[in-house]
Amino acid sequence: MTSIQIDRRLPDRFFEASLRADALAGLTATPKSLPPKWFYDERGSELFDKITRLDEYYPTRAEREILAAAAAEIATATRAATLVELGSGTADKTRLLLDALRDGGTLSSYVPVDVSESALVTAASRMLKRYPGLQVQAVLSDFTERLGLPEAGGARLIVFLGGTIGNLLPAERAAFLISLRARLRPGDALLLGTDLVKDPAVLVAAYDDPAGVTGEFNKNILRVLNAELGGNFDLDEFEHVAVWDAEAEWIEMRLRSAVDQTVLLPAIELRVPFSAGEEMRTEISAKFRREGVAAELAAAGLELRSWWTDSQARFGLSLSVPA
Ligand code: AVJ
Repeated sequence: MTSIQIDRRLPDRFFEASLRADALAGLTATPKSLPPKWFYDERGSELFDKITRLDEYYPTRAEREILAAAAAEIATATRAATLVELGSGTADKTRLLLDALRDGGTLSSYVPVDVSESALVTAASRMLKRYPGLQVQAVLSDFTERLGLPEAGGARLIVFLGGTIGNLLPAERAAFLISLRARLRPGDALLLGTDLVKDPAVLVAAYDDPAGVTGEFNKNILRVLNAELGGNFDLDEFEHVAVWDAEAEWIEMRLRSAVDQTVLLPAIELRVPFSAGEEMRTEISAKFRREGVAAELAAAGLELRSWWTDSQARFGLSLSVPA
Protein backbone atom coordinates (compact mmCIF):
# COMPACT_ATOMS: atom_id res chain seq x y z
CA MET A 1 0.00 0.00 0.00
CA THR A 2 1.17 3.51 -0.81
CA SER A 3 2.33 5.50 2.20
CA ILE A 4 0.49 8.63 3.26
CA GLN A 5 2.20 11.90 2.46
CA ILE A 6 1.38 14.81 4.71
CA ASP A 7 1.82 18.36 3.48
CA ARG A 8 2.52 20.32 6.68
CA ARG A 9 1.38 23.92 6.44
CA LEU A 10 1.08 24.81 10.10
CA PRO A 11 3.91 26.84 11.63
CA ASP A 12 6.12 25.27 14.31
CA ARG A 13 4.48 25.00 17.71
CA PHE A 14 1.19 26.20 16.20
CA PHE A 15 -0.93 24.52 18.84
CA GLU A 16 0.98 25.70 21.89
CA ALA A 17 1.21 29.26 20.58
CA SER A 18 -2.39 29.65 19.43
CA LEU A 19 -3.94 27.99 22.50
CA ARG A 20 -1.98 30.37 24.75
CA ALA A 21 -2.94 33.40 22.71
CA ASP A 22 -6.61 32.37 22.57
CA ALA A 23 -6.78 31.61 26.30
CA LEU A 24 -5.10 34.89 27.23
CA ALA A 25 -7.32 36.97 24.96
CA GLY A 26 -10.58 35.16 25.76
CA LEU A 27 -10.19 34.86 29.52
CA THR A 28 -9.23 38.52 30.00
CA ALA A 29 -12.08 39.84 27.80
CA THR A 30 -15.50 40.98 29.01
CA PRO A 31 -17.55 38.88 28.61
CA LYS A 32 -15.13 35.94 28.62
CA SER A 33 -15.09 33.52 25.69
CA LEU A 34 -13.04 30.64 24.29
CA PRO A 35 -12.89 29.49 20.63
CA PRO A 36 -14.67 26.16 19.98
CA LYS A 37 -11.73 24.64 18.13
CA TRP A 38 -10.20 23.80 21.53
CA PHE A 39 -12.92 21.22 22.31
CA TYR A 40 -11.34 18.69 20.02
CA ASP A 41 -8.54 16.85 21.75
CA GLU A 42 -8.86 13.05 21.62
CA ARG A 43 -11.51 12.98 24.35
CA GLY A 44 -13.39 15.91 22.82
CA SER A 45 -13.47 14.23 19.42
CA GLU A 46 -14.83 11.04 21.03
CA LEU A 47 -17.50 13.06 22.83
CA PHE A 48 -18.50 14.79 19.60
CA ASP A 49 -18.76 11.39 17.97
CA LYS A 50 -21.09 10.33 20.78
CA ILE A 51 -23.14 13.52 20.23
CA THR A 52 -23.69 12.59 16.58
CA ARG A 53 -25.41 9.38 17.75
CA LEU A 54 -27.80 11.11 20.18
CA ASP A 55 -31.49 11.14 19.26
CA GLU A 56 -31.62 14.91 19.84
CA TYR A 57 -28.63 15.74 17.61
CA TYR A 58 -30.18 15.56 14.14
CA PRO A 59 -27.65 17.44 11.90
CA THR A 60 -25.36 14.47 11.18
CA ARG A 61 -28.19 12.17 10.15
CA ALA A 62 -29.99 14.89 8.19
CA GLU A 63 -26.86 15.74 6.21
CA ARG A 64 -26.15 12.07 5.53
CA GLU A 65 -29.71 11.67 4.19
CA ILE A 66 -29.14 14.58 1.78
CA LEU A 67 -25.80 13.25 0.59
CA ALA A 68 -27.19 9.76 0.03
CA ALA A 69 -29.89 11.26 -2.21
CA ALA A 70 -27.81 13.92 -3.99
CA ALA A 71 -24.31 12.43 -4.39
CA ALA A 72 -24.86 11.20 -7.95
CA GLU A 73 -26.24 14.57 -9.01
CA ILE A 74 -23.27 16.33 -7.38
CA ALA A 75 -20.86 14.03 -9.22
CA THR A 76 -22.57 14.71 -12.55
CA ALA A 77 -22.69 18.46 -11.99
CA THR A 78 -19.06 18.82 -10.90
CA ARG A 79 -17.24 15.99 -12.72
CA ALA A 80 -14.60 16.52 -10.06
CA ALA A 81 -11.22 14.80 -10.26
CA THR A 82 -10.17 15.95 -6.81
CA LEU A 83 -12.23 15.98 -3.64
CA VAL A 84 -10.80 18.37 -1.04
CA GLU A 85 -12.39 17.85 2.36
CA LEU A 86 -12.08 20.62 4.96
CA GLY A 87 -12.14 18.90 8.35
CA SER A 88 -11.75 15.22 7.63
CA GLY A 89 -13.79 13.90 10.54
CA THR A 90 -16.83 13.02 8.44
CA ALA A 91 -15.52 9.89 6.77
CA ASP A 92 -18.76 7.99 6.20
CA LYS A 93 -20.40 10.97 4.51
CA THR A 94 -17.32 11.54 2.37
CA ARG A 95 -17.54 7.97 1.10
CA LEU A 96 -20.96 8.71 -0.41
CA LEU A 97 -19.32 11.46 -2.50
CA LEU A 98 -16.20 9.46 -3.39
CA ASP A 99 -18.37 6.52 -4.50
CA ALA A 100 -20.42 8.80 -6.75
CA LEU A 101 -17.35 10.46 -8.30
CA ARG A 102 -15.72 7.07 -8.86
CA ASP A 103 -18.89 5.69 -10.44
CA GLY A 104 -19.03 8.80 -12.65
CA GLY A 105 -15.49 8.02 -13.79
CA THR A 106 -13.88 11.35 -12.85
CA LEU A 107 -12.30 10.69 -9.44
CA SER A 108 -8.51 10.68 -9.18
CA SER A 109 -7.52 12.18 -5.83
CA TYR A 110 -8.70 12.86 -2.29
CA VAL A 111 -7.25 15.68 -0.20
CA PRO A 112 -8.26 15.68 3.49
CA VAL A 113 -7.40 18.95 5.24
CA ASP A 114 -7.38 18.99 9.03
CA VAL A 115 -5.55 20.50 12.01
CA SER A 116 -5.40 17.07 13.61
CA GLU A 117 -2.65 14.78 12.32
CA SER A 118 -4.37 11.71 13.75
CA ALA A 119 -7.66 12.62 12.05
CA LEU A 120 -5.75 13.02 8.77
CA VAL A 121 -3.97 9.71 9.03
CA THR A 122 -7.24 7.94 9.87
CA ALA A 123 -9.13 9.54 6.97
CA ALA A 124 -6.28 9.03 4.50
CA SER A 125 -5.61 5.38 5.31
CA ARG A 126 -9.30 4.49 5.30
CA MET A 127 -9.73 5.96 1.81
CA LEU A 128 -6.52 4.41 0.46
CA LYS A 129 -7.83 1.03 1.52
CA ARG A 130 -11.29 1.51 0.08
CA TYR A 131 -10.36 3.12 -3.24
CA PRO A 132 -7.45 1.32 -4.87
CA GLY A 133 -5.52 3.68 -7.15
CA LEU A 134 -6.85 6.80 -5.45
CA GLN A 135 -4.18 9.45 -4.88
CA VAL A 136 -4.36 10.69 -1.31
CA GLN A 137 -2.58 13.89 -0.33
CA ALA A 138 -3.22 14.88 3.28
CA VAL A 139 -2.81 18.54 4.26
CA LEU A 140 -2.14 19.53 7.87
CA SER A 141 -3.58 23.04 8.04
CA ASP A 142 -6.34 25.25 9.33
CA PHE A 143 -8.80 26.95 6.99
CA THR A 144 -7.17 30.39 6.99
CA GLU A 145 -4.56 31.95 4.69
CA ARG A 146 -2.55 28.78 5.07
CA LEU A 147 -5.14 26.71 3.26
CA GLY A 148 -3.51 25.61 0.03
CA LEU A 149 -5.38 23.67 -2.63
CA PRO A 150 -3.52 21.07 -4.69
CA GLU A 151 -2.62 22.19 -8.19
CA ALA A 152 -3.59 18.83 -9.71
CA GLY A 153 -5.32 19.05 -13.08
CA GLY A 154 -9.05 18.61 -13.35
CA ALA A 155 -11.97 20.06 -11.47
CA ARG A 156 -11.79 20.28 -7.71
CA LEU A 157 -14.74 19.88 -5.38
CA ILE A 158 -14.19 21.51 -1.98
CA VAL A 159 -16.47 20.08 0.70
CA PHE A 160 -17.09 21.63 4.10
CA LEU A 161 -19.70 19.51 5.86
CA GLY A 162 -21.41 19.18 9.23
CA GLY A 163 -22.49 22.78 9.56
CA THR A 164 -19.09 23.66 11.01
CA ILE A 165 -19.09 26.98 9.13
CA GLY A 166 -21.72 27.96 11.73
CA ASN A 167 -19.00 28.02 14.39
CA LEU A 168 -17.55 31.13 12.75
CA LEU A 169 -18.84 34.61 13.53
CA PRO A 170 -20.41 36.38 10.53
CA ALA A 171 -17.26 38.44 9.82
CA GLU A 172 -15.08 35.32 10.11
CA ARG A 173 -17.42 33.46 7.73
CA ALA A 174 -17.14 36.25 5.19
CA ALA A 175 -13.34 36.26 5.43
CA PHE A 176 -13.21 32.46 5.13
CA LEU A 177 -15.45 32.37 2.04
CA ILE A 178 -13.50 35.19 0.37
CA SER A 179 -10.15 33.49 0.93
CA LEU A 180 -11.53 30.17 -0.28
CA ARG A 181 -13.05 31.82 -3.37
CA ALA A 182 -9.69 33.42 -4.18
CA ARG A 183 -8.19 29.91 -4.47
CA LEU A 184 -10.84 28.51 -6.80
CA ARG A 185 -10.51 28.25 -10.57
CA PRO A 186 -13.28 28.07 -13.15
CA GLY A 187 -14.69 24.54 -13.02
CA ASP A 188 -14.13 24.13 -9.26
CA ALA A 189 -17.09 23.98 -6.85
CA LEU A 190 -17.89 24.30 -3.16
CA LEU A 191 -20.24 21.91 -1.34
CA LEU A 192 -21.26 23.49 1.95
CA GLY A 193 -23.38 22.00 4.76
CA THR A 194 -25.44 24.43 6.85
CA ASP A 195 -27.85 23.68 9.66
CA LEU A 196 -31.16 25.50 9.26
CA VAL A 197 -33.27 27.78 11.48
CA LYS A 198 -36.10 25.80 13.09
CA ASP A 199 -38.20 25.46 16.26
CA PRO A 200 -35.96 26.73 19.10
CA ALA A 201 -37.03 23.80 21.29
CA VAL A 202 -35.59 21.36 18.75
CA LEU A 203 -32.38 23.41 18.48
CA VAL A 204 -31.89 23.74 22.22
CA ALA A 205 -32.49 20.01 22.76
CA ALA A 206 -29.79 19.24 20.17
CA TYR A 207 -27.29 21.27 22.23
CA ASP A 208 -28.53 20.36 25.71
CA ASP A 209 -29.30 16.64 25.65
CA PRO A 210 -30.78 15.09 28.80
CA ALA A 211 -28.01 12.47 28.95
CA GLY A 212 -25.51 15.31 29.45
CA VAL A 213 -23.12 14.33 26.66
CA THR A 214 -23.08 17.87 25.23
CA GLY A 215 -22.44 19.25 28.71
CA GLU A 216 -19.42 16.96 29.04
CA PHE A 217 -18.24 18.01 25.60
CA ASN A 218 -18.59 21.68 26.58
CA LYS A 219 -16.64 21.21 29.81
CA ASN A 220 -13.93 19.34 27.94
CA ILE A 221 -12.52 22.72 26.89
CA LEU A 222 -11.69 23.31 30.57
CA ARG A 223 -9.88 19.96 30.74
CA VAL A 224 -7.87 20.98 27.68
CA LEU A 225 -6.83 24.22 29.39
CA ASN A 226 -5.96 22.31 32.55
CA ALA A 227 -3.84 19.80 30.64
CA GLU A 228 -2.10 22.24 28.31
CA LEU A 229 -1.70 25.29 30.54
CA GLY A 230 -1.46 23.68 33.98
CA GLY A 231 -4.84 25.13 34.92
CA ASN A 232 -6.98 24.23 37.90
CA PHE A 233 -10.51 24.59 36.52
CA ASP A 234 -12.87 22.51 38.70
CA LEU A 235 -15.37 21.10 36.20
CA ASP A 236 -17.95 20.58 38.94
CA GLU A 237 -18.04 24.33 39.56
CA PHE A 238 -19.26 25.11 36.02
CA GLU A 239 -22.63 24.42 34.44
CA HIS A 240 -23.43 23.74 30.79
CA VAL A 241 -25.73 26.33 29.19
CA ALA A 242 -27.22 26.28 25.67
CA VAL A 243 -29.37 29.22 24.54
CA TRP A 244 -31.00 30.21 21.27
CA ASP A 245 -30.24 33.78 20.24
CA ALA A 246 -33.29 34.59 18.11
CA GLU A 247 -31.84 37.80 16.72
CA ALA A 248 -28.44 36.46 15.66
CA GLU A 249 -30.05 33.09 14.79
CA TRP A 250 -27.42 31.04 16.50
CA ILE A 251 -27.17 28.59 19.37
CA GLU A 252 -24.72 29.76 21.97
CA MET A 253 -23.00 27.34 24.34
CA ARG A 254 -21.69 28.79 27.56
CA LEU A 255 -20.15 27.64 30.81
CA ARG A 256 -21.67 29.28 33.88
CA SER A 257 -19.62 29.61 37.04
CA ALA A 258 -21.62 28.15 39.92
CA VAL A 259 -19.69 30.12 42.56
CA ASP A 260 -17.30 33.03 43.02
CA GLN A 261 -13.93 31.51 42.18
CA THR A 262 -10.45 32.29 40.86
CA VAL A 263 -8.84 29.92 38.39
CA LEU A 264 -5.07 29.78 37.90
CA LEU A 265 -3.34 29.16 34.57
CA PRO A 266 0.37 29.06 35.48
CA ALA A 267 1.66 28.49 31.94
CA ILE A 268 0.41 31.93 30.90
CA GLU A 269 0.78 33.49 34.37
CA LEU A 270 -2.93 34.24 34.58
CA ARG A 271 -5.41 34.42 37.47
CA VAL A 272 -8.96 34.42 36.18
CA PRO A 273 -11.72 35.60 38.53
CA PHE A 274 -15.28 34.31 37.91
CA SER A 275 -18.27 35.61 39.82
CA ALA A 276 -21.18 33.32 40.73
CA GLY A 277 -23.52 33.11 37.72
CA GLU A 278 -20.98 34.56 35.27
CA GLU A 279 -21.23 33.00 31.81
CA MET A 280 -18.36 32.39 29.39
CA ARG A 281 -19.13 31.69 25.73
CA THR A 282 -17.50 28.57 24.29
CA GLU A 283 -19.30 28.19 20.95
CA ILE A 284 -21.75 29.73 18.57
CA SER A 285 -23.45 27.41 16.11
CA ALA A 286 -25.22 29.60 13.57
CA LYS A 287 -28.37 28.37 11.85
CA PHE A 288 -29.14 29.46 8.30
CA ARG A 289 -31.86 30.08 5.73
CA ARG A 290 -31.46 29.43 2.04
CA GLU A 291 -31.54 33.15 1.15
CA GLY A 292 -28.89 33.94 3.76
CA VAL A 293 -26.57 31.21 2.48
CA ALA A 294 -27.02 32.43 -1.12
CA ALA A 295 -26.31 36.03 -0.04
CA GLU A 296 -23.15 35.10 1.91
CA LEU A 297 -21.89 33.04 -1.01
CA ALA A 298 -22.67 35.86 -3.47
CA ALA A 299 -20.83 38.38 -1.27
CA ALA A 300 -17.73 36.18 -1.64
CA GLY A 301 -18.07 35.82 -5.42
CA LEU A 302 -19.76 32.42 -5.38
CA GLU A 303 -22.98 31.59 -7.16
CA LEU A 304 -25.45 29.12 -5.65
CA ARG A 305 -26.12 26.38 -8.22
CA SER A 306 -28.07 23.78 -6.24
CA TRP A 307 -29.71 23.55 -2.85
CA TRP A 308 -30.92 20.43 -1.13
CA THR A 309 -32.52 19.77 2.25
CA ASP A 310 -33.43 16.56 4.08
CA SER A 311 -37.05 15.38 4.06
CA GLN A 312 -37.79 17.38 7.22
CA ALA A 313 -36.03 20.56 5.98
CA ARG A 314 -33.72 20.56 8.99
CA PHE A 315 -30.38 20.86 7.21
CA GLY A 316 -29.24 22.48 3.94
CA LEU A 317 -26.56 21.49 1.47
CA SER A 318 -25.46 23.98 -1.18
CA LEU A 319 -23.37 23.61 -4.30
CA SER A 320 -21.81 26.83 -5.55
CA VAL A 321 -19.29 27.84 -8.20
CA PRO A 322 -17.09 30.88 -8.84
CA ALA A 323 -19.37 33.63 -10.14
C1 AVJ B 1 -19.15 19.97 14.71
C2 AVJ B 1 -19.31 22.32 14.75
C3 AVJ B 1 -20.91 21.05 13.53
O1 AVJ B 1 -21.93 23.15 15.93
O2 AVJ B 1 -23.29 21.46 15.86
C4 AVJ B 1 -22.13 19.77 18.65
C5 AVJ B 1 -20.31 21.00 17.28
N1 AVJ B 1 -21.34 21.57 19.48
N2 AVJ B 1 -22.74 20.00 19.83
C6 AVJ B 1 -22.17 21.94 15.93
C7 AVJ B 1 -21.24 20.79 18.44
C8 AVJ B 1 -22.25 21.08 20.34
C9 AVJ B 1 -21.00 20.94 15.96
N3 AVJ B 1 -20.09 21.09 14.76
